Order: sequence, then C-alpha cells, then structure tokens
Amino acid sequence: MAKTFYITTPIYYTSGRLTIGHSYTTIICDVIKKYKENRGYDCFFLTGSDEHGQKVQEEAKKKGLTPKQYTDELVVKCKELWKLLKIDYDKFIRTTDDYHESTVQKIFSEYIKQEDVYKSSYEGWYCTPCESFWTETQVGEEHLCPDCNRPVHKETEESYFFKMSKYSDFLLKYYEEHNGFIEPISRQNEMVSNFIKPGLEDLCVSRTSFDWGVKVVEDPKHVVYVWIDALSNYITALGYKQDNHELFDKYWKNDEDHEILHVVGKEITRFHCIYWPIMLKALDLPLPTKIIGHGWVLMRGAKMSKSKGNVVYPEPLIERYGLDALRFFSACCVPFGSDGQFTPELYVDNINTSLVNNYGNLVSRTISMIDKYFDGIIPTNYGNFTNFDKELVEEMKNSKDRYEKLFDKYNISDAFKEVFDLLNKGNKYIDDTKPWELAKDENKKAELASVMNNLAMLIKEATILLSPVLVESAPKVYEAMGIKDTSYDHILDLNTIENNKVTKISPLFPRLDTKVEYEFIDSMMK
Ligand code: MSP
Repeated sequence: MAKTFYITTPIYYTSGRLTIGHSYTTIICDVIKKYKENRGYDCFFLTGSDEHGQKVQEEAKKKGLTPKQYTDELVVKCKELWKLLKIDYDKFIRTTDDYHESTVQKIFSEYIKQEDVYKSSYEGWYCTPCESFWTETQVGEEHLCPDCNRPVHKETEESYFFKMSKYSDFLLKYYEEHNGFIEPISRQNEMVSNFIKPGLEDLCVSRTSFDWGVKVVEDPKHVVYVWIDALSNYITALGYKQDNHELFDKYWKNDEDHEILHVVGKEITRFHCIYWPIMLKALDLPLPTKIIGHGWVLMRGAKMSKSKGNVVYPEPLIERYGLDALRFFSACCVPFGSDGQFTPELYVDNINTSLVNNYGNLVSRTISMIDKYFDGIIPTNYGNFTNFDKELVEEMKNSKDRYEKLFDKYNISDAFKEVFDLLNKGNKYIDDTKPWELAKDENKKAELASVMNNLAMLIKEATILLSPVLVESAPKVYEAMGIKDTSYDHILDLNTIENNKVTKISPLFPRLDTKVEYEFIDSMMK
C-alpha cells in the first residue's frame, strides 16, 4: 500500500482579490503534492475559503449583499484563479458548507461538555481586520495591532473561552519530542519564548458582536470565533464526526506511513502551532506531522498593500510571461521558509537566466544536434569516452540524490537549485565535448552518440525533477523528445530515450527584453 500524504493550504479569506502572495502559498502546496506523487505517495490536497466573521459581514453590507452572496462571488473567483494556476487540489472546502458548520458545532459542544470551553467575559483590544484580541502589552502605547499595525479598539464581551493554559505542558513536551514538528525551527523558538513560556492565555472562542458565523448550539447568541471554525476545516473536510468518514480514517494519521503537512504563512503560524495542536489533543486526535511557516513575498522589501500601491496580481503576470514562469518564480526563486523579494528585475532576470538560457536553450540546442547528426533519432549510449562523460553521468545521479534529500526536508527552493545547477553543467558539457568537432570525424561517431544520449538523458531527468513546477513546459519537452515513460522510478533508464524520435519545437521561453519588461511590471505595481 502506498504511503499517504495529506497536504493543506490555509483557507483563504473571502474579503478581496487574491494576490501573488496568496498564489505563492497555493503554488508551493501544489508543487509539493506533485513531487510526492512523483515519489509514489497517495496524496490528498485540500484548499478552501474562510468565509465567516465580522469583516466579511461588513464588506457584504457595504455592497448591499448578504454575506453568503458576497462570499459566493469571491469563491467563484478564487476557484477560477486556482484553475488558471493549474492547482490540482482534491477538495475545496468552504466554511459555509453545511457539513462543516454542523461538525464545528459538534466539536464545540464536545469542548463544552468536557469543560475545555467555559463561559466568562472578556475585555481587550480588538483588531477588526484581523479579528483578533490583543493584550495591553501587545498593542503598546499607540494601540496598534501587532500583526497589521492598524489601530485597535477596546471591546468587552460575554464569551466562551478555551482553556489553552491547561495544555501548555503537553505542548512544550510535544515540541521537544517531535523534532521537525514546526519548520523552520526559528518559528518554533518564537512560539516557545513569545507565547508558551510567558504563560498561555485562555483563548476567547466565541463572539456576540456579530452573527455571521457558526452558532453555538447551547447558546445561539454566540457564534464560534473564526479560528476554531477555520482550523477545524482540516478535519471536517475529511469527514470527521460525519457519516462518511472514509477520507478521515485514511488520511488523518501520523506515523511512518502517513504524513500530514500544513503549509501556512508566518503570520498565522501561532494559530497553527499552538491552538490547533491543542484543539486536536482535546479531541484525542493525532497531531499533524509538520507545520511549515513560510515567509512572505515582499514587494521591494515591503509588505504588499493597496495603500502602498505595490500589489501584484497573478493574472496579468501569467498573461504576459506564462504560467510556468510564475510557478517557477514562486517555487525556485523565493528562499523557502524565509522572506523573499518580488521586484521586476528579479522576476525578469530569473526567467532569462534559468528558464530561457539554462533550460530552454539546452533543450533546443540538443534537439537541433540530434536532428542534424543522427537524423532526429536519439542514439545509443556507447559508454563513457572522456572524463567529461564520466563526470556528467555521475553528476546526473548525484543531483537526483541531493534533490531528493533537500525536497524531503522541504528545502524546496534549494532542491530546485540542484536542477538548475545540473542544467548549467549540461550546457558546459556541450562546450567541453564540442560535438560539432566530433561530427567531422567518422571515427568519433560512437563518442558523439554518447554525448547526444547523455544530453537527452540530462534533459529528461531535469524535466521530471522540474515537472512539479513546469506544468506546461514539461509535457512539451517529453513530446519533443519522444519520451513516453515519464515515471520518476525510471528517471535514468536508458531505454526510455534510446531510439526516440525528436521533433523541433519553438523556444520554450522567449528571451525577455529586460528594459521593456522591467517597465511593464513596474507599471503593474502602481
Ligand atoms: N483565513 C486565514 C487562514 C485560516 S487557515 C485555518 C488567512 N487567510 S489569508 O487569506 O489572509 O491568507 C492565506 C495565506 O496567504 C497565508 O498563509 C498568508 O501568509 C498567505 N499570503 C498572503 N500574502 C502573502 C505574501 N505576500 N507572501 C506570502 N504569503 C502571503 O490567513
């Protein structure tokens, strides 16, 4: 039986248009899923929308719509975007789905029954856009939200509370005993020193100041606070506490043969690394295998915001440079785990260097040479003739090993760097072996055949390793090189390429005129 792999994105707020920051998270998850599929895992990929809360209610009112009408429209747009990005999710959950709402109610009732949740009242500093209460020290003298920096206001409410404090020892011990539970480790240290060690405060988990949410069955003037509602999506989507719980039984397992991975942005790691594990423990359920808190894509060093006028949307980028370019930039050029930069220069230069020069050129040069020297048929490999051959063949094997090791630790951008390094070596190999000279000497026909075969093999290997990212180009390359067997397990098998017929193709990635394109992207950021 294949090992199972359950991967989730955060569920996106339905309160505005999705940017390349949101698409970044989703692309990363899609890339991870496709890698795991290549490695033979049985995968399930969940994404969705987070639709309740005061902010949505207010936005809908401004537009003269009911909250549901409002979120319906945004969900359609969100799904359209994921289709455009070729995101291969298995399920899209909406927190307004009936099965989700009724399961959240069951979960909440269970917490009340077992006294993990109790009623009290709350006074604190509240940030409406973030839907979060903050303490006096957190908001500081200026009374600004520590997450979004906007002004907060005082609010008192009768509320239900979750006894988070009861679980702090459990959580600390769990962190200690499960190396790699939170990645990068710096985020775990942040959780411990900023939140757990100073003493976990009980979390306010209901609201009475608005009603767009899941009603507490025992006390319907309360709606369940968004984070309890939102975080539960990861299990309600699989059928937890529902009649059909097959998916839950299959995928919500954490052991050697079953992996659960949550990928989230760094600003919401606190909810995922503290509250979510405690919520699960209270339900006596396994915790996820890993939570990765990725960094932000910063726009010339600043967080994206409409007021700064630096918001970039995925659609126009895709229209101009193609989908693979955006997927490539997200997965390969933003150091995974840390913050990365989006600038017109970085976007255009990376495409030119890696996709146009390194990859696209190697593919077209190789196909042209096979066409010219071997009538378009990939020749047999007669073994190594020179040290250049020997080194390249070894490098092909070693690169794959390094790629796997890095990817298995979710050093994703580094894993892809291995592939571009390998492609670089492929280009250098052409300069070193000088096929045009070998072609002039009839006695070097076998040597030339090995060189062509090695190049074809390298391209095949790199294409399979990049296939989670280059969803549009990879199939084109397979076709142009007559490769039918694209399975990861046969990645370096000679008989998958020998005697294949190659066909010339137009450049995979046209070279970008830097000046024109810098200006184009610049104008989008205004
Ligand atoms: N609804 C909550 C998540 C609930 S999960 C149980 C939420 N939604 S969100 O729409 O605001 O953000 C969703 C994801 O998009 C987050 O992981 C966030 O980090 C990511 N990004 C949004 N802009 C981003 C960047 N500029 N860069 C990278 N990712 C960022 O939070």
